[in-house]
Amino acid sequence: MKVKNNIILAMDLMDLASAESVCESINQYIDTIKIGYPLTLAEGLKTIGLFKENFGYKVICDYKVADIPATNEKIANLTFDAGADAIICHGFVGPDSVEACKASAEDHGKEVFLLTEMSHPGAIRFLQKDADDIARMGVEMGISNYVAPSTRPDRLSEIRDIVGKDSFIISPGVGTQGGDPKETLKYSNALIIGRSIYNAEDPETATKDIIDSIQ
Ligand code: XMP
Repeated sequence: MKVKNNIILAMDLMDLASAESVCESINQYIDTIKIGYPLTLAEGLKTIGLFKENFGYKVICDYKVADIPATNEKIANLTFDAGADAIICHGFVGPDSVEACKASAEDHGKEVFLLTEMSHPGAIRFLQKDADDIARMGVEMGISNYVAPSTRPDRLSEIRDIVGKDSFIISPGVGTQGGDPKETLKYSNALIIGRSIYNAEDPETATKDIIDSIQ
């Protein structure tokens, strides 16, 4: 996936009007958006198509899919049928569950991102100890897209070593959660940024400042 300016907007505002207003103000800098449960549950799957039609964005659905294979398949099919370009699925559920999302992505000609380690502090307790193995599983399965944390550059670097230089890593945790944009891009292909942009007094200036800081 190609991401303009290496920035994916994480849009977690919960009404479409506010979300679209932020998108309008930063449209020249952004071509990829990530939406998750907040906006989807508030406004519905139709948001996927609206971002594509109104802004021409690539849409990554951060649904952190983590169920049995049969249910994962239904979730992924609904997401891709609604127009999503990619879906994020959890790896800790194991290869059969991940395979269901991967197969759905392939059927639709779309992409799957495998979530390895999460960016928040609580991820250290359970997920971190298995994150390298999740990344190895992804490589064994032929997955080329990964999510790994900006908040722990050492861990991000280790995950990059496992998935290899040709894999595509996107990293949440930049800004509000403490991750540094420039440091993150040493190991990652794109930054996922939400609150630092959509909660900024001037989202356009905030976005431009981040772009300046990574050049
Ligand atoms: P902020 O506002 O902190 O938003 O810039 C970050 C966005 O990324 C999501 N998030 C994650 N998604 N793995 C993911 O797949 C993670 O480890 C992770 N950490 C944060 C978060 O839901 C928000 O949309």
